[in-house]
Amino acid sequence: MDHSISMEKIVSLAKRRGFVFQSSEIYGGQNGAWDYGPLGIELKNNIAQAWWKSMTQMHDNIVGLDASILMHPRVWEASGHVENFTDPLVDCKKCNARFRADQMDQAKLESKTCPDCGGELTDTRKFNLMFKTNIGAVESSNNIIYLRPETAQGIYVNYKNVAQSNRMKVPFGIAQIGKAFRNEIVTKNFIFRTCEFEQMEMQFFVQPGSDEEWFEKWKKERYAFYERYGVRMNKLRWHQHGPDELAHYAKDAYDIEYEFPMGFKELEGVHNRTDFDLSRHAEYSGKDMQYIDQDNGNARYIPYIIETSAGLTRNLLMFLCDAYDEEKVGDKGTNDDWRTVLHFHPEIAPTTVAVLPLMKKDGLPELAREIQNELREDYKTSYDQSGAIGKRYRRQDEVGTPFCVTVDYDSKEDKSVTLRFRDSMEQVRVPISELSARIKSEIKKYKRV
Ligand code: GAP
Repeated sequence: MDHSISMEKIVSLAKRRGFVFQSSEIYGGQNGAWDYGPLGIELKNNIAQAWWKSMTQMHDNIVGLDASILMHPRVWEASGHVENFTDPLVDCKKCNARFRADQMDQAKLESKTCPDCGGELTDTRKFNLMFKTNIGAVESSNNIIYLRPETAQGIYVNYKNVAQSNRMKVPFGIAQIGKAFRNEIVTKNFIFRTCEFEQMEMQFFVQPGSDEEWFEKWKKERYAFYERYGVRMNKLRWHQHGPDELAHYAKDAYDIEYEFPMGFKELEGVHNRTDFDLSRHAEYSGKDMQYIDQDNGNARYIPYIIETSAGLTRNLLMFLCDAYDEEKVGDKGTNDDWRTVLHFHPEIAPTTVAVLPLMKKDGLPELAREIQNELREDYKTSYDQSGAIGKRYRRQDEVGTPFCVTVDYDSKEDKSVTLRFRDSMEQVRVPISELSARIKSEIKKYKRV
């Protein structure tokens, strides 16, 4: 058996155990779209919640927002997306295959030869990534509407509403989690790059001149987030955007890259967007987007913006890849010598505690249900009474449940249970009355080994 880690294995586990399914699978699948199953949605919610906590609960000066996906079409003219949010594409005139000109073999591009069939390629043209549709009863050029390609603009157009209603003072931030859409041509690598995805973005409004200092602070903070949630730090690195990589709005930009099975790829971006977006919205809307700084002699200025922009669905893929391992745990020379395990941080894991009665009889299931009902007030729990206990532990390991509680015959007498740890596979005896508190303290001190 091959025990190396590959994207195929992660995709297969994700489907088998109900993390991620192909969209519209019974019709052959929809390219660039995926559905999150029972464990996938728990995992996604936990990542979103961890991010939300790190941004809002942990900062006095950052508040949340949930703006709509559909926005006035002028927003996207002002933001520069109508003009600049494009990929360079070429098509094959013979087999109709489509390629990103910047990602294909450059010799083939120059000789205009299709890498697939050898046919002739078209000239390179700019292809806008925004999904465009019409709003209202008739299709006309007067009622074009876009699906937002980034959540950020919903924050910019609301920045004065938020600042005034919540008496926010620069520097302050607005955080948002939501769907974004891009008409991506290359959507390989599972959920890495999709047409429909979710972003977790925070826009931090600062006084011009202090932007570079805040940029450095946010870079540090975002890197620390991944360490806090147990990601292996040797799998992360920074990549600074060169002049030809910078987005049209950015003065400086760094990506946090993660080493996925297909190599180091962008996970999150930290961008210095200057006053570009707010100035453009002032110009296109005719509204004054200046901030009046009462702590600074009523100085008026358009704040600079430091943006932290992470993909939620891309984070989910990263957490899955980072957690996945196949470990040798026996010496019998059979497949049972190996276990597949997801080493999720307990606050990220879809299920925190599984409760397992040793036998399906003699009152053990009843006691196990009682214990589960107490634990479910504080934790996501699951219950499993079918099969040998070793097999049940393996099933929980495979979906990353950090703690298993086993109820046995002694439990009825000594009012204690076995607490089993996913990573070390160690087992300890814990009084039922102390179980919840013990799990809480184990979560607090969790460190991935
Ligand atoms: N507001 C800035 C912005 O959208 P970006 O670098 O284009 O910047 C930010 O996107 C993050 O969104 C990326 O680091 C990635 O995690 C995620 N992302 C972007 N396009 C994506 C796609 N097609 N599928 C999944 N995630 C995507």
